[in-house]
Order: sequence, then C-alpha cells, then structure tokens
Amino acid sequence: MSHIAKSRLTQAQLDAHWMAYSGNRQFKKDPRIITAASGKYYTDLDGRKIFDGLSGLWTCGLGHSVPAINEAVAEQVKTLDYSPAFQYGHEKSFLLAEQITEFMPEGLNRIFFTGSGSESVDTALKIARAYWRKKGMGTKTKFIGRAKGYHGSSISGFSVGGIPANRTLYGQGLESYHLPHTQAPGTEFTKGMAEQGKERADDLLNLIMMHDASNIAAVIVEPMSGSAGVIVPPQGYLQRLREICDQHNILLIFDEVITAFGRMGAKTGAEAFGVTPDIMTTAKQVTNGVIPMGAVAFKQEIYDTFMEHGGPDYLLEAPHGYTYSAHPIACAAGLASLGEIKRQGLIERVNNMSAAWGDSVHQLKEADSMVTDIRNFGFAAGISIAPIDGEPAKRPFQIAMAMWDKGYYVRYGADTIQLAPPFTTEPAEIDSLINALGEAIKQTE
Ligand SMILES: Cc1ncc(COP(=O)(O)O)c(C=O)c1O
Repeated sequence: MSHIAKSRLTQAQLDAHWMAYSGNRQFKKDPRIITAASGKYYTDLDGRKIFDGLSGLWTCGLGHSVPAINEAVAEQVKTLDYSPAFQYGHEKSFLLAEQITEFMPEGLNRIFFTGSGSESVDTALKIARAYWRKKGMGTKTKFIGRAKGYHGSSISGFSVGGIPANRTLYGQGLESYHLPHTQAPGTEFTKGMAEQGKERADDLLNLIMMHDASNIAAVIVEPMSGSAGVIVPPQGYLQRLREICDQHNILLIFDEVITAFGRMGAKTGAEAFGVTPDIMTTAKQVTNGVIPMGAVAFKQEIYDTFMEHGGPDYLLEAPHGYTYSAHPIACAAGLASLGEIKRQGLIERVNNMSAAWGDSVHQLKEADSMVTDIRNFGFAAGISIAPIDGEPAKRPFQIAMAMWDKGYYVRYGADTIQLAPPFTTEPAEIDSLINALGEAIKQTE
C-alpha cells in the first residue's frame, strides 16, 4: 500500500500544507510520515523504528519524550497556559534566564526570550543597531556575516546568512557584507579544528577598510557552521575575529542556535573555542525542541546602556519583543531540559565521546571516492559528497533517502550529509549509523 493510502491523508490535505524547507512535490508523491518518537528513535507509518541521526533538527539532544520535560509541560499547561509577554511576568521566565546564564560564558548575563532561532538573530541584530544609537553612534548600522553562514529565515537572517540558495529568491535584504568561509582547500578530512586558516579572519580588516568601523554595527558568525555542513573554525580564527572587533569597536555576535547547550561537548561553542562574544543567540536545545523558544544572551553593559538611556522608568527601554517571548510552557520545558542536561551529565558525556565519534565518522573516507571531505566537532559531523555535474544537491538527497529506507534519519543540504545524534547515543548506535551511511553512499554511486 502506498504511504498516502496508509496515512489516511488525502492528496488535497497533503497539498494544503506548504512544507518548510522541503521538496514539496517529491515529498507529496511518497510522504515520509513520522507517527511517534521515543528516546533516540522515531516510528514511521510502517511501524519501523528510525534512528534520529540529527536529533530532530539539532534540537533534541536529550532524545524524545523525556519524562521530566513531558511532566513539566503537562503541569504548566494546567497551571498557567499563557501569560502576557509585555508588562506582566511569571516566575519561570526569571528562573530560566538565571539557569541559562549558568551555561553562558562569564559576562553574558542578560537574557531576552524569543520564539525561534530566526527571532533570536533578528533580536541580536536590532539590539546591536539600537545599542550604538543609544551610545550616540547611530551610523553603525551595517552587518558583517560570513559565506556559508546560516542565521535563519527572516529578512535579517538571510541578509547576514551566506548560503546562496537561501538568498537568491528574496531580493533586497539588510545592508550586509560577508567574510570568506573557513572551509579551506588543503584542510579536507581534518579531525576537529584545522591548524591553517586563521588568517581568513583578517578579511574583516578589508571590510572595515571598505566600509569604516563607524558604519558597522556587528559581525555575526556561527562559531561552528551547522547548516552548511559542520564547518569547524580553524585554530585561532575566532580569537582573531574577537581581537579585530575589539580594536574597531564592533560588536561580535555568535549565533549558537545549534552549538549552545551541549552539542559541542561544552556549554556553548564560545566555551568550546575559548572566545566570548558580546551577544549570543540560542534556540533549539534550550527546550529540547519540545516547545518553540529562543533566547539571546547579552553582555551586561549592553543591557545597562538601554537601562541608563531609557528615559522615565514607565517607558520601554527597547520597543522589541514577541507575543510568545518567555511563553510559560516554553519556560517550563526549558527549565526541565537544561535541568536534565545537567543532571545526566550530558555535556561531559559528549565531550568524552567526541573523539571516538570523530574516529567513526572519519572511517567514511574509505567508503567511496565520492566522499570529498569530512568534518567533525563535539557530536556533530558534515560529510561532503562530490556533486553530479549540474546537480550538486542530488547525491546527498539520494543518500538520505537510502538511509531512511535503512531506518536512519540524517539531514542533507547542498552537497553535504549532516549528522548530530542525541547526546545519549551509545557506541554501538554510532557504529550502526556509520556502517549504514557507508553502505548508502556506496549504493548511490
Ligand atoms: C545557526 C542558526 N541560526 C538560526 C537558525 C534559525 O532557527 P529557527 O529555524 O528556529 O528560526 C538556525 C536553524 O537551523 C541555525 O542553525
């Protein structure tokens, strides 16, 4: 029986949903419908167990249906299902803000809540501009992103983002310029951070020369690019960006929507790489993906600037926010999720297992000559696949579909396959994931 027939969905119902970042036409011919999730596995319409090789969308490091989160959410719905985000508060947002600061590098201790990673990025960029205006430097409005960066789907996010396919359709964005990416020729198959490539940060000096620091609000980078296929910063690169930003009075924003709260085997990418930004955007893992939420961490001086220049205290210091900022159910999920990460010692676990994870993933080099590069850090890996002429995204799609048939969910994007298994993944599960992927790659020749 076809999956459409099995799903009880009509073609009209399938057509009614314009799916996000999906090949709608291909999907709707033979839908991959997920019916349940528990622990590290999904169940599909055929009742098959499917290993979650990307922790949802880099969201569910704790796995699925975590009792502590389920209970916290159920309790919260019964007690306070919604509370107005503007001018009134509920206790859990303050508790969660404090909890998040425990995961942040020292000094990033003021938390603004959003509903997603894209909203977190929008918040960071708006506040960066407003900060300079509050300081009497209102000409500082331009942004510097980086090639291959991903910063979400809003107009601001695609403007600073550097994945061409995400930009070309959408016309004019914010005034943004881009650093080169750090996936340098000669560093293929590096485990962890490459020794060469730090000097690519110096391109920021060229952009500053072109535009002048008096016109630049902030530099935004993912400390480790996730969506472009796990691009790990070269040694010393982020330090150099930090140095240049400091010298030129430019804010440094780390977009840690993927890297915060454990994925790197550290509390954040900032901790893993030893560099503290002025602003950090987060989302995804903060609630283990159970309820949408984002959180932006600011250094205190930024918050203080708004408070000092806020006018009479009944006025808003920053007219910015979302109906779902600090949603009580998201806050309950966040408290439970971060509590479980700590209680289960998962950051240490990922850190301890990351070298073995890297060794396993790098075995794929031998799988086939079409594997042209492998990168890894923490519990994340990106595998580059030689493109078919004129169709660079086709082979990764075919590989991911072959994996789905074998009972593994992995992400494909551009010419890469991306892996990010749950923090609780056992060595035997890593082996079977990598073996299956090796077979799927061979199969796709
Ligand atoms: C680094 C980064 N920033 C921003 C986003 C956007 O997050 P969202 O899809 O929750 O809006 C993502 C999503 O993958 C991301 O990886």
